[in-house]
Amino acid sequence: MTQDDKKKAAARAALQYVEDGQILGVGTGSTVNYFIDDLKDIKDRIKAAVSSSIRSAERLKALGIPVLSLNEVGTFDIYVDGADEINPAREMIKGGGAALTREKIVSQAARKFVCIVDDTKLVDVLGKFPLPIEVIPMARTHVKAQIEEITGGEALWREGVITDNGNEILDVHGLKITEPKALEERLNQIPGVVTVGIFARRPADVLITGTDKGAAIS
Ligand code: A5P
Repeated sequence: MTQDDKKKAAARAALQYVEDGQILGVGTGSTVNYFIDDLKDIKDRIKAAVSSSIRSAERLKALGIPVLSLNEVGTFDIYVDGADEINPAREMIKGGGAALTREKIVSQAARKFVCIVDDTKLVDVLGKFPLPIEVIPMARTHVKAQIEEITGGEALWREGVITDNGNEILDVHGLKITEPKALEERLNQIPGVVTVGIFARRPADVLITGTDKGAAIS
């Protein structure tokens, strides 16, 4: 199976978690795009969607699925999203697509977080994938220096990328994140940091992994 086939298998398996009349939270990325494509088969059973990005919202609307703002919805049933890395505790690195802030906000409002990945995303220790951090532009120099001091990694600005919130992304290379929750909380304290791409305070509840043998659920 190719990596794309594995993404498709994980996305397809996530449909079983969607129940009639639910409001569905939808993440961002290539794996989620397959999930959105699959929603066309069950779109009449979905009440509405909340999206974590402008691009996923457009894709949902193109299928005729109503997209509501999080403020209209409050808490909701299920959030489906991909990840850049996920460990055995279902803690993740996210933000490879620069949508981490809205992903973190929307996922926190969901009763269940279903993460869909191909098996290349499984790791024992987070950090091989550069850690994305969304930063307010006027704080860039200050934030970069503090992050490098705290983590010991090398923080590089993602060239040519502005987030849906008008901010910039720092990618921190060379990390071994042995205590994801503690590092998430520490980096969150730096003034000027909007969101850290470690999703450990609120890990996924269900992991669906696309493998050579199909979708595995854990
Ligand atoms: C978007 O900002 C990310 O958090 C994505 O969820 C992550 O990058 C996974 O994307 P793919 O499904 O394209 O690998």
